[in-house]
Amino acid sequence: MRSRQPKITDKTAVCIIGLGYVGLPLAVAFAKAGLKVLGVDVQQRRVTRVNKGQSYIADVDSKVLTEVISEGLLEATTDQSKIKEVDAICICVPTPLTRTKDPELSYVVSESKVVSRYLQKGQLVVLESTTYPGTTRQVMLPILERSGLRAGRDFYLAFSPERVDPGSKNYNIRNTPKVVGGIDLKSTKLATLLYSQIVDTVVPVSCPEVAEMTKVFENVFRSVNIALVNELAHLCEKMGLSVWEVIDAASTKPFGYVPFYPGPGVGGHCIPLDPYYLANKAREFDFHTRFIELAAEMNEHMPYHIAFRILELLNTRGRSLHGAKILVLGVAYKKDVEDTRESPALKIIQLLREKGAEVSYNDPYVSQIYMPAGGMKSVKLSRECLASMDCVLIAADHSCYDIGEVVASAKLVFDTRGATRGINQANIVRLGE
Ligand SMILES: NC(=O)c1ccc[n+]([C@@H]2O[C@H](COP(=O)([O-])OP(=O)(O)OC[C@H]3O[C@@H](n4cnc5c(N)ncnc54)[C@H](O)[C@@H]3O)[C@@H](O)[C@H]2O)c1
Repeated sequence: MRSRQPKITDKTAVCIIGLGYVGLPLAVAFAKAGLKVLGVDVQQRRVTRVNKGQSYIADVDSKVLTEVISEGLLEATTDQSKIKEVDAICICVPTPLTRTKDPELSYVVSESKVVSRYLQKGQLVVLESTTYPGTTRQVMLPILERSGLRAGRDFYLAFSPERVDPGSKNYNIRNTPKVVGGIDLKSTKLATLLYSQIVDTVVPVSCPEVAEMTKVFENVFRSVNIALVNELAHLCEKMGLSVWEVIDAASTKPFGYVPFYPGPGVGGHCIPLDPYYLANKAREFDFHTRFIELAAEMNEHMPYHIAFRILELLNTRGRSLHGAKILVLGVAYKKDVEDTRESPALKIIQLLREKGAEVSYNDPYVSQIYMPAGGMKSVKLSRECLASMDCVLIAADHSCYDIGEVVASAKLVFDTRGATRGINQANIVRLGE
């Protein structure tokens, strides 16, 4: 076992565990900065693709991936024992929820056990997966110390949340400040040094719990504000006002207001899940996060609201939902991404199908989806296809959609994203109006 001091510089060897939406961009960022990177994943298919320079994450360019692979700066493997050879280990494994919406930390736990088996003196371990405050110290640390090494003395441990904004043209790893909280000063210092190789601004905080809470709070902030504006959308529908016009007007206030927009619900790996991590942990302290849980409830209700509005819209046109032909545009959870995890569009499709509607979808980023009642393939978008539908639902307003064309061809367009704003036609109905 080596007993050297950690070597956190541009010559550091870093291991990224979990080459998904978070891990692969991170691995490439470190490699681009000249660090030697080992990418570890349990999926052989992903490892093979990375080593061939074939990206499966939209935010990672295959050309850049190929460059760092051919320069020998990045290598992917399923062999976890290679963890022994690096200076720093960043863990980016999933943190989903169980069926009963409790935190599912099994990936973090099992990976901590693996790291513990190969842990070396002087190594820095950083957890990046989103989780409740206390995970790094209460869950990971004891497992890592089963190695016989002591945290803060023999190895270093920190939490640093990933803040990636998938599909963003403005924000990337480099210009998004990174929060870092170590279990002691040395761990914070080393993690700060590590991330300053790839991030312009690193924000050290006093402990991992603050870093963990910061990440969950950021996502709860979004969840609560989205729920608020979704509620306002419901009310505007009843009052005959346009929520979009209200938001635009409110946005002219130069201080004390941040615009959020209504939609068919929330999706992705963060907003629908993370609030439950905090709500669950809070119960340990005899505390109920009422605001947070109410917001989650409100957002989860949106697909039901959308399905009900489609039913109503068809009804007022003398058509029943049963047997109606409905085309969903965009099944990704948001604009211009290919990620369908927790996408509200999937729930809407399920609800409409349960009521007997004939549902099809188009999404240029998602060629097929897997549903409990059978998989579906993206249909080709054409004027004929649009015209043959009883209702076209805009669920994700991908930039490539020609909304003018959609509106010109379809009998009825239900727009949940405000994509048709500025077009005045009788066949358009918008959420929140
Ligand atoms: N996707 C986002 O936009 C986003 C943003 C911020 C934070 N996060 C958080 O980052 C974490 C990872 O999310 P993601 O979206 O990258 O997930 P992902 O599912 O895209 O990737 C996770 C990867 O980890 C691999 N994996 C699972 N167990 C493993 C193990 N024991 N050893 C090695 N590899 C293993 C999986 O095969 C997969 O490739 C989660 O906690 C998530 O909440 C995600």
